[in-house]
Order: sequence, then structure tokens, then C-alpha cells
Amino acid sequence: MTFKPAKWPRKLRSQQWFGGTSRDAIYHRGWMKNQGLPHDLFDGRPVIGILNTWSELTPCNAHLNDLAQRVKHGIYEAGGLPVEVPVFSASESGFRPTAMMFRNLAAMAVEEAMRGQPMDGCVLMVGCDKTTPSLLMAAASTDLPSIVVTGGPMLNGYFRGERVGSGTHLWKFSEAVKAGEMTAGDFLDAEASMSRSPGSCNTMGTASTMASMAEALGMALSGNAAIPAVDSRRRVMAQLTGRRIVQMVKDDLKPSDVLTRQAFENAIRTNGAIGGSTNAVVHLLAIAGRVGVDLTLDDWDALGRNVATIVNLMPSGKYLMEEFFYAGGLPVVLKRLGEAGLLNKNALTVAGETIWDQVRDVVNYNEDVILPVEKALTRQGGIAVLKGNLAPKGAVLKPSAASPHLLKHRGRAVVFEDIDDYKRRIADEALDIDETCVMVLKNCGPKGYPGMAEVGNMGLPAKVLRKGITDMVRISDARMSGTAYGTVVLHTSPEAAAGGPLAVVRDGDMIELDVPNRRLHLDISEAELAARLAAWTPPQDKPASGYAWLHQTHVEGADTGADLDFLKGCRGAPVGKESH
Ligand code: FES
Repeated sequence: MTFKPAKWPRKLRSQQWFGGTSRDAIYHRGWMKNQGLPHDLFDGRPVIGILNTWSELTPCNAHLNDLAQRVKHGIYEAGGLPVEVPVFSASESGFRPTAMMFRNLAAMAVEEAMRGQPMDGCVLMVGCDKTTPSLLMAAASTDLPSIVVTGGPMLNGYFRGERVGSGTHLWKFSEAVKAGEMTAGDFLDAEASMSRSPGSCNTMGTASTMASMAEALGMALSGNAAIPAVDSRRRVMAQLTGRRIVQMVKDDLKPSDVLTRQAFENAIRTNGAIGGSTNAVVHLLAIAGRVGVDLTLDDWDALGRNVATIVNLMPSGKYLMEEFFYAGGLPVVLKRLGEAGLLNKNALTVAGETIWDQVRDVVNYNEDVILPVEKALTRQGGIAVLKGNLAPKGAVLKPSAASPHLLKHRGRAVVFEDIDDYKRRIADEALDIDETCVMVLKNCGPKGYPGMAEVGNMGLPAKVLRKGITDMVRISDARMSGTAYGTVVLHTSPEAAAGGPLAVVRDGDMIELDVPNRRLHLDISEAELAARLAAWTPPQDKPASGYAWLHQTHVEGADTGADLDFLKGCRGAPVGKESH
């Protein structure tokens, strides 16, 4: 792609606040000067919003204030004026009912923060799962020059000599306690070893996946995704990002120049190569919806189908982000995709260069971490999109995290009407369930939970775990943590709360999962399915007011990204009326 930089100097949007001698200009500048800013900083240089998702209740981003100082250095060095702006921060580990319900709220708030204030460009300071897509969605809608810098992953965890991955070992240890293979005391001891430094989850969970997606999309500087949070090179990356955004504003290099169809194709294939999170599906669809790129769930299957998973990281493999960084990180993966003819090499990046220019000369320093294709974790690493009478609009499954022997399976449904029903009954030894059954969870989708929580990887019943069984087929309209694993069918659409066929599955129904043929089938007659759907009534527990009401009323299905219907599209960032 050829990009023609705009002429510089020219008048920037921030000058509509700060430029001139009018009463309003004096008002806007004068109040800013209470921070001790010299007059010449308002001379028409790019004003850069450092949109910071720092929060002490978003522990993965709790170090971003320190990193923001480095971004500021870079902006000043390049002749810009940095302004740090705290923005909505949805923590994956703490927000209830689920951070996903607030991704769209954050995107809406950040979009308006960008549009309504004197910013010419933005640095998106993100890390924890939802913070990355929400700020990318906002930037896509305003189309102001923007660049991502993530906080970086935590260092490796170790417990009694064993590598411990964020989330992945939480699920593993919890199942081991249920199976009687680990004591509750040991589980508590392991807690302290799981998060041993600042940063985001150190597995190839959603945070690392979305950092990789930002880099593969061309929205972050090359190499950003894998640098550990506490590595000095993370600070260097922040400073370079600050320098770069100033030039991007001068060149008028916007998200719409970078977030092209080509870029999304690169990101989808990258997700297959890294064994990335299924959550990337809803987030990339939502970002594409904001910038106006036609991207569908079927693209995920078609583009990812022949991409081998070569990054040997948990939850699919054995290493963690620290080792990925030492091996060369995402640039090595992009180079490998390019060599295999699976990269749109001319896709433009925020660096102003093509993605291929940035990665063509990188070196793989550890072939056990970034594997040769002959040793790939799976040759079919992309996200499988399943269709059938149980998922007319699609459902997703991550083959690299599933058990090969379950990818073709027919089993008896054991149905949980919602997550509370599951929690109430799963520990009941009298529950009629064994490892051949298919666990079905309803009402956990975007409308149903509400917010589409990460509960799709339901823990197995203890009586199954005690037999040494660690995986069963599970189907829901929920999401799954990117750190989780198993033969788990997710995002089933339409969701149960919207009257999808999932809503009418009953105990004892037979279900067929056929991943090689991308099929998900409820084995009842068409007439029976139609009769059940006709008799279905929606759940009654609708929020009466507030954001929960807004979300549930306007959220779209997972198959199109679960954005709010009125937020889709690029609205730009026109400068509004004077405030006084
Ligand atoms: Fe924040 Fe995993 S919980 S990155």
C-alpha cells in the first residue's frame, strides 16, 4: 500500500482550542497553563493524548503510569505536546458481571474523549484483555492518528520448579484439587507464584493475543507485543512510540490507512500461528465494524484454516511470553507467514513502512519456542467456525486447545439453563453425566449473561476428573478465557437469550460435533426444532435501567462482534461548537 504523507506544517484540530487570541483561545490555553506549561507549547505543535487505562483495580495495567512518562519523553523529543488522559479501564480479573460488558462502554467513552477534546493524535496505553480492543474501536471510529503501546506481559511464574502460566494453571490446579490430585493448601501456595511481576497475563491468553493482533494489524511498532513489562526495552518501546505518534500526526497517518482488509487478514492468520485466543474473533469483528471493513466470521475459518500453530506457548503449548520475547517475538512469526505466502506484505503500519519491511530480516533465536512448521502444534491452527442447526450463524472452537479425539464426537446433552444452574448442580454426584456426554450451557451470550462472560470452559464434574479424564465437549454461547483450553464450542449464535436453537436443547438430546467438517448438529427433526422454538419465551430478567439496560437492548450477536448497534461505523472527529 502506498501512503502519501500530508503536507507539514498545517493547522491542526487542537488549534481550534488553543490557537489565536480570542476569548475562547485564552480560556482554553489559560486553564491549561495552571499546570506550568510554557506559552510556546501551544504554538501549533501536535497535541498528543496519552489515553491511559492505568488503574489499581486493573492490576495488569497498574504500571502504565510509569510507562506513560516514557511516552511523554518521546512526544516532547519529537516536538509534540503530551497530555495524559485517564480513560475507562475494564479489568478482566475484577469487573462484574464481566469486563466484556464494558468493552463497548469503554470504547464509547474513549471515542468521545478523543472527539470532544483538543487532541491531534493518541497513544493508546493498554494491556489487560478488554483495554486493547476498546481503545482500538474508539480510534477506529474517530479516525484520529493513533498508535498502541501495551504494558507488556508478566515474567514467567514458577511453582516448585514448574512453569506456571497466568490463568492456564489456575484452571489446571483447580481441576487437580477437584480430582484429589492437589491439596487446597498447595493451591493457595501456588497463588503467590502466579503473578510475580507487573504486567498482563504471561500466557498466549487474550491480552497477549490482542497485543499481537495490534502489532499484526500494523497499529503498534514492530516487536511491541512480547517485551516483558519490567524489561527496560518496554520503556524504550514506550518512548519510541511517543516519538512516532508526533510524526504520524504531521503525516496524517490515520487508523483507516492502516486498518485495511489486508491488515485484518494478516491478523487472522497471525492468530492461527500464535494459537491465539478465541476472544480475538469478537474483538477484530468489532474493530472492523468501526472502521468499515467488511469482515465476517466465515473469514476467520477460511483465512485461518491452513495456518499452522507454531508458537509453543500455553495454553496450547509449554512456554510463556518471556520466552517468546527472547526467541524474537511476533516479528519472527510474521516473517514466517510471509515466507509461506500467508502475509499481505504490503500492508501499511503505523511506522509508515510495510509490515514486510519491518520483519524481513528478523531471526528466530529459539526453534523450540517458535517451531518449524514440521513440528507445529497443529497444522490447522486457525479458529474453526462451526455451523449447523444448533448454530445457524456460527460458533467457534480453537483446535489447538482441543483434544484431537473429541473433534468428532456424538454425545448426550447435559443441559445447564444458565451459569447459576451449572454451579448449583455440577458438584452433585447424582448428576447423570459421564465423559461421553456433551455439556451445554445456555444464556451466557452478549444479551444473556449479560455481557458474554468467560464461562464457556465449564469445569468438569469431579466424578469424571477422578477417572483421569481432563476434557469433555462443552457448548455454550459464552466466551472462554484465552488462557483456557479444551474441546469447547463457544460464541454459539444466535445466542440462547435471543432465541437461538441453543435455547431449546434438552437433557438427553444427541449432539454431533464434527470439527473437520465444521458441523454442529442437534439431532432432532426439523419439525421438532421448529415446535420447540415456537414455544420458547425469552428470559424475563431484563435490566430495567442504566448501562446494563443499554447494553442488553442494543448489543449485537457474537457473530458480528458484539458491538452496540448504534456504535458501529466511523464517525470521524469533527471539532464541535465552542464550549462558551
Ligand atoms: Fe488482565 Fe489477563 S487478567 S491480562
